[in-house]
Amino acid sequence: MRRSISSLLTNTLHGIYGDRPAVWMMRQAGRVLPRYRELSAQHGFARLMTDARLAAEVTWLPVEDLGVDAAILFSDILIVPEAMGVQVEWTAKGPSLANPLCQYDAPVRHVHIDTSLFDRSYQAIDAVLQQHGRENVPLIGFCGGPLTCLCYMLQGTGGSAGFSDAVSYIYRHRQASGLLLDALTEVTVEYVRGQAAHGIDAFQLFESFAGVVPEELYWEMFLPSVRRILNAVREQGVPAIFFPKGIGTGIRMMTHEVTDFLSVDWQTSLAYAREVVDPAVGLQGNMDPRLLYAAPEVIRRKLDSYVSYFREHPDWIFNLGHGLMKDIPFEQTKMVVDWVRQHDWR
Ligand code: CP3
Repeated sequence: MRRSISSLLTNTLHGIYGDRPAVWMMRQAGRVLPRYRELSAQHGFARLMTDARLAAEVTWLPVEDLGVDAAILFSDILIVPEAMGVQVEWTAKGPSLANPLCQYDAPVRHVHIDTSLFDRSYQAIDAVLQQHGRENVPLIGFCGGPLTCLCYMLQGTGGSAGFSDAVSYIYRHRQASGLLLDALTEVTVEYVRGQAAHGIDAFQLFESFAGVVPEELYWEMFLPSVRRILNAVREQGVPAIFFPKGIGTGIRMMTHEVTDFLSVDWQTSLAYAREVVDPAVGLQGNMDPRLLYAAPEVIRRKLDSYVSYFREHPDWIFNLGHGLMKDIPFEQTKMVVDWVRQHDWR
């Protein structure tokens, strides 16, 4: 049974707007939080992700320490590639996937699906809802977008360099890539259905590398998969947010058939996004996380600029245009959340 929750975030996603925007931040659970750093030093990142009790604890930290309006499950998008048999190693520089599949002509034959790995996320969702289910703070579930996961599976690592081996592989082996994408989509759909069944209140699809392929390829090859994944959660009454980072002018293709809300990255202005995106789709975003390195008055000037936007477009959720980085000061991050919560937006 889906719990019914009335919160600023879920109301906004359902078209009921409040006196201020809801606020949460991508990558809010790890990285900048002092208590996360302590837990990470004590247990190690891998253990925090695999131990449901610890994952639930980390999930809730930003609600207590930053005062955000929603929690996001502590997990990682690479759990889906892992459930397809790809080994992920966590290095200081980020994830590295052993045995990249672009060395094969028929990569789908090297996939070994074991979705029991998802149990740890489901147990973490259960633990969060058991402990905090009555607090009216929504829990956001998530997973990686199809292109982002496909790139990691094909190339292993190399996101910062635009995954060029994965992209050239997709063009040279279109059919083989399509078969791998189909398998990935199936597994992802199972995972998001499972999250919805365990009671998440909202869902975000992180397509962090949408910009590494030409827009045409994205819409032709990957959008059908995005729609299948997001429809799988929406069918269960869970509203969907889509974050296609780097898609640029491609956001004009974003309709309500694809998603309820669109998370806008820091390279695209909200005003432009509002002009070109289907009016039935709400927006989220898009403060540049690097502004959080700036002096408080510089940050406040930026925050002020969002007020007139909200007055005209209340179908908006405050967030960053990409995730928090590790070296961003906690105090600055907290200041932004406090400001959003305390400002007179009307
Ligand atoms: O707030 C949260 O952090 C919620 C949980 C979460 C993690 N990863 C845990 C994590 C979420 C939503 C993600 C998403 C994710 N993971 C994305 C898409 C979002 C985005 O920001 O682009 C991507 C591309 C990944 C893959 C990944 N995981 C990378 C590239 C890295 C290294 C760089 C980084 O972001 O820190 C990770 C590591 C990771 N995933 C950490 C956490 C808390 C940092 C681990 C640590 O050093 O403590």
